[in-house]
Amino acid sequence: MADSAANTSKDLARGVKANSIADGGMLLGHVEKDHVLLARRGDRFFAVGAHCTHYHGPLAEGIVVDDTVRCPWHHACFSLETGEALRAPALDPVACWRVERTGDEVFVREKMPQPSSSARPRPAGSRQHPSSIVILGGGAAGLAAADMLRREAYDGPITMISADQDPPVDRPNLSKDFLAGKAKNDWIPLWPSDLYGERRIELLLGSPVSSIDRAARTVLLENGTRREFGSLLIATGADPVRLPIPGHDTAIVRYLRSFADSRAIVDLAPAAKHAVVVGGSFIGLEVAASLRTRGVAVDVVARDHLPLERVMGTEIGRFIQSIHEAHGVVFHLGQTVASLTGRKVSLSGGSTLDADFVVMGVGVKPSTTVAEKAGIAIDRGIAVNEFLETNVPGIFAAGDVARWPDPHTGERIRVEHWVVAERQGQVAARNMLGQREPFDAVPFFWSQHYDVTINYVGHAERWDNVKIDGSLDRRDATVSFILGGTTRAVATVSRDRECLEAELALEHLTVPVGTD
Ligand SMILES: Cc1cc2nc3c(=O)[nH]c(=O)nc-3n(C[C@H](O)[C@H](O)[C@H](O)COP(=O)(O)OP(=O)(O)OC[C@H]3O[C@@H](n4cnc5c(N)ncnc54)[C@H](O)[C@@H]3O)c2cc1C
Ligand code: FES
Repeated sequence: MADSAANTSKDLARGVKANSIADGGMLLGHVEKDHVLLARRGDRFFAVGAHCTHYHGPLAEGIVVDDTVRCPWHHACFSLETGEALRAPALDPVACWRVERTGDEVFVREKMPQPSSSARPRPAGSRQHPSSIVILGGGAAGLAAADMLRREAYDGPITMISADQDPPVDRPNLSKDFLAGKAKNDWIPLWPSDLYGERRIELLLGSPVSSIDRAARTVLLENGTRREFGSLLIATGADPVRLPIPGHDTAIVRYLRSFADSRAIVDLAPAAKHAVVVGGSFIGLEVAASLRTRGVAVDVVARDHLPLERVMGTEIGRFIQSIHEAHGVVFHLGQTVASLTGRKVSLSGGSTLDADFVVMGVGVKPSTTVAEKAGIAIDRGIAVNEFLETNVPGIFAAGDVARWPDPHTGERIRVEHWVVAERQGQVAARNMLGQREPFDAVPFFWSQHYDVTINYVGHAERWDNVKIDGSLDRRDATVSFILGGTTRAVATVSRDRECLEAELALEHLTVPVGTD
């Protein structure tokens, strides 16, 4: 913490009046050089680190819910009592300080020792742990699951098998700051490389799995080796859709899913003058923004008449388009790419564009091949129950690949959100250890375009009314997606606290899931 901040913020070690903090309220201050948040719940006071361990979000601008604090940026949740990161995307705890109340004053005393990640005792009467656990996939869900298994004191062998060449990475960053040249290479891995060994997680990279033998409880890798499992988590994510257009395999075409994909685009950017992005998806548009930040001219070709309209509605679609146009992006909407020849991109409307490279961002499809071959039930993704278990006992699925019964919409849904994938990984991990915890988090995602971030909470595939509070043009708005009089989802711009409050409200909305 800068000394100036220490001089200007409240020194919590010197004490504050108890009644200066309302129930559920927070006070930002410092203890020596640390920013500290003092929070009140009833007559109890808690002092924790003031910054989220995910991206350093300001917890003082979040909300207190029971004895937890939620981060305003991407909705991580920390225990006020222990500092533990209870809900992703943060995986690491915040520091805690001892608080002492004397009369009507509250003092923040010394920092408490951080609980070690595998210190949690095994719950009494808990079921037998599996003899070994294999995690198929080294992404968001896979890593969050491995992390949670060790936090829950699982002591057996864990093997994480990934087709990626790189250890698990911060995938959302690959289309944002990393691609824009604002994040360094070493910010991208989710864990430092030595942590896998320290937590006894065997990490097999560049190792696609070709099949699962349900009866023998083994997975077979393409390199011919096998791994046994007591319990298996399938977290194979999703693959970019590849359009069968003439010339789709020319050298200038790029996809973006892995760290290697993003590095390949970064390598092309310095010499490039002009790129074409195909698809008006979140990823496509984030790529457009990052390339513009690097000074590359960008044309976006998209089948829809407004980008993101199907997911975010007309108003946000127009808003996003206008932001990109203000940064020089040229849209070719209501069109597709007819063919690619050399540097020439021919559009269905008859015009052609010249491109140094083309980034395809036309959506993804869940990676279900291996599960399907093993006879695991598939329903436009891997079908799981509320405990994220497939139709095969002991085999779970989480993340982009999983379709689960969502208690807030009453529908079986599958989403492609980072935070959902991580939270599902965490819940699946606990359930692999015999806990029966239903997955009931309200979906959340964010998307960043230049200096504008949109946060979205809930799930609305359709709506009959959109209510806008504030103004998108002023970049200060809450947009509610309403169906039959009920708010199903909320998107916000520069209103992080309202997004957290919307999440809380949506958590209380429950609809029984139909049997279909
Ligand atoms: C560029 C980009 C930007 C994004 N930005 C955002 C954002 O801003 N906000 C947001 O909410 N979401 C964002 N997302 C979506 C988010 O990253 C995904 O929802 C999330 O990564 C899903 O996690 P997952 O674990 O299910 O899959 P993934 O993270 O994709 O991991 C899947 C893993 O499975 C492995 N795998 C697949 N098949 C096999 C096999 N047969 N054998 C072995 N391994 C296999 C893969 O190699 C990979 O390691 C973004 C995605 C991308 C690509
Ligand atoms: S910065 Fe807190 S959740 Fe991302």
